[in-house]
Formats: sequence, structure tokens, C-alpha cells
Amino acid sequence: MENLFSSTSVGSYNLEHRVVLAPLTRMRTEPGNVPGDLMVEYYTQRATKGGLLITDATAVSPLAIAYVDAPGIYTDEHLQGWKRVVDAVHAKGARIFLQIWHAGRQAHPANTGGVTPIAPSALLSLEHAAIRNEDGSIAEAELILPRELEIKEIPLIVDQFRRSAVLAKEAGFDGVELHAANGYLFEQFLLDGTNHRTDAYGGPVENRARFLFESLDAVVSVWGAGKVAVRLSPSGTYGTMSDSNPHGTFQYVSEKLNDYDLAYVHVIEPRVRGIIDIDAEDAHVWSKDIRRWFKGPLIAAGGFTGAKAEQIIAEGGADLVAFGRLFVSNPDLPSRFRHDLPLSPYDRSTFYGGDAGGYTDYPTYDAVVLA
Ligand SMILES: Cc1cc2nc3c(=O)[nH]c(=O)nc-3n(C[C@H](O)[C@H](O)[C@H](O)COP(=O)(O)O)c2cc1C
Repeated sequence: MENLFSSTSVGSYNLEHRVVLAPLTRMRTEPGNVPGDLMVEYYTQRATKGGLLITDATAVSPLAIAYVDAPGIYTDEHLQGWKRVVDAVHAKGARIFLQIWHAGRQAHPANTGGVTPIAPSALLSLEHAAIRNEDGSIAEAELILPRELEIKEIPLIVDQFRRSAVLAKEAGFDGVELHAANGYLFEQFLLDGTNHRTDAYGGPVENRARFLFESLDAVVSVWGAGKVAVRLSPSGTYGTMSDSNPHGTFQYVSEKLNDYDLAYVHVIEPRVRGIIDIDAEDAHVWSKDIRRWFKGPLIAAGGFTGAKAEQIIAEGGADLVAFGRLFVSNPDLPSRFRHDLPLSPYDRSTFYGGDAGGYTDYPTYDAVVLA
């Protein structure tokens, strides 16, 4: 694992190893989408000296939320909640980026105060949102037909990203990652399966990417160079997503990302669809393409084991690897990889929502051995 445990840098930050915590929606906030003690503990457990953590997808407005008890970054309470997370993570010597997010048509009126979700075009996603029943339990709910954004509304959403970036900076984060993956609003604009607009934001890829790049301009104007990142899922279909020419779309986007002095680009490989593994041994490895197009630091994610991560870094296919599900159940994942220790299995039933069970009660390896 010598490559995984060699130093590297993202933007102006030096890192001591390359095992990154992937962004994971865990639906564990306090009321009002505010990070509380449980989230402070979760992130603290996964922080290591010289390591990098990426947060849960965090909504830039009330209308951006797809899942009940997902965090927000649009009020002072959100800022204060996140500040406690950031301070605790920094105290352990780790870096932390906030993933900022708008769900677009993946949002649900039950989570948005009854407001109809928005999208580039009025097209239905066949996925589900997570909502709270009257008895307090969490349920999956079918999505509803979104409303097509009027062109004059788009700058208002760009400004929501800018304002959230300001709050993230005030909370002390080391940077922000724009969530342009997994079927949410940026990707809904980017792919032609979900963007049927005929104005300046639809049609050719230059137009479909406009919303992403305008938002990037806004966020970089707040954060400056080397502190902003973008997550892409070129092979993703989650969210009923499709594109007639993914190669062309993602080549355009990746090459244009070179115009920004980004901290990194983060790419999800096709080994997973949402949270389910797919059989894709012979699947296209997108990070290798993105590597050719984008010249800055690259994080790869999606179905990696320690050995596969070591291999892709050794081959130069990526600089860092983000781990999702294995980091859920192994809070000390970097140390387990480093010392070749057995991994604890994860429990899917506790991924989303609930209490400390399946969230902060997975033991470290030392605790298992000593028990
Ligand atoms: C419970 C869960 C929640 C997730 N939430 C997010 C999220 O908020 N933002 C995001 O970009 N990806 C999210 N993902 C995708 C992960 O970041 C990651 O790409 C995926 O789990 C594949 O990596 P893995 O095979 O290491 O788990 C989520 C995945 C899981 C399992």
C-alpha cells in the first residue's frame, strides 16, 4: 500500500495519505437540517492526521433537499452546526470539504414545505425520495413531476450556491465540492436525457454545461483558487439519467474544468449504481479518460478495495481514492488498509436515517481486538 500511503496535495493542502471519505448522505441531522452532536462524532471518528473528508451532500436551499434529515448550508444554524464538525475534524489534523448540492427534480414536496421541485425540464424521475411519515418513521416516496425553471430563475439558484459557499467558508471548511453527479440538478442540466430546453441552457453541451460553470464561477469567486472541487458520474444512471453522447459531454466538461484552478475533480466509476454494486468487470474506466482531459488532481470512487485503490494510483489513473460503504463500517479505514487488518461488513439497513446505530457505533479494529 505504499502508493496509498504516500503524501500528495489537493489545491494548497498537503495530505499524508490518499484514503478519502466519500460524500455520504446519512440523514442524521437535528431538526431543521442542522448538523448536531451525532454528526460531530461521526466525522471525528473518520478524521486522521493528513487525511481528507468530504461531507454528506448538503442542500443550498430548502428546495434543494431530497432526503429528510439531510444537512443544509443556508442558515446561520447550519453554519454553527457545521462549524462544530469542522473544528473537531481540524483538531485531529484532517481536512474537510463540504459537498454542496441541489437535488432539482429529485426533491420531494414533503421535504420542501409543499413546494413543487424544479428541473431544467418538466420530466419525471423514477427514483424515490426519503420522507417522514406522520408517525415519525421514514418512508420512500415516489417523486412528482417537476416544474421547468424559467430562465430568469437560474441566476437565483447560482446565487444560492454562492451564498452557501460564503457560509461554508465562515464555518471554516477547507473547501467545497460541487455535487454534479448522481442525477441531481447540475447533472439534470448537463445530460440531454433530462434537459430538453431550447434556450441558452439547453441544446449543445456548451449550453447544457452553462449552469454548472456559472455556479462554479460564483463559488470560485468566494473561495479563490485551489479550494473548489467538482464531482462527476459520467457512467451514472441513478435518477433516471441518460445522455446521447456521454463521451462528448464529459470530455467537454472535463477539459473546461482546466480553466479553473480546482482542488480536484472527483469521478465515480461504473462499478456502482447508486448504492448497489453492478457487474462491470469490463466496464469503461472513466477516470482514465478524465485523466487525459483534466490536468489537476483526480479522486476516483466507486467499488474500490484497498488493493484496487493501490493499483489505480500505482498506474497513475487517479491521485486519491474515496471510499463510501467501507468507511461507513470501518471508521479507522486508513489504518486497516495500512496494517492489512480485516474489514468489518456494513449494514445497508442503517445507511439512511436513525440514531447512532450503524452510524457511530462501528468499532475501530483496536476496540474489536480488545473486546
Ligand atoms: C449511504 C450512501 C450515501 C451516499 N450519499 C452520497 C452523497 O451524499 N453524495 C455523493 O456524491 N455520493 C453519495 N453516495 C455515493 C458514494 O459517495 C460513493 O460514490 C459510492 O458509495 C461508491 O463508493 P463505495 O463503493 O466505496 O461505497 C452515497 C453512497 C452511499 C452508500
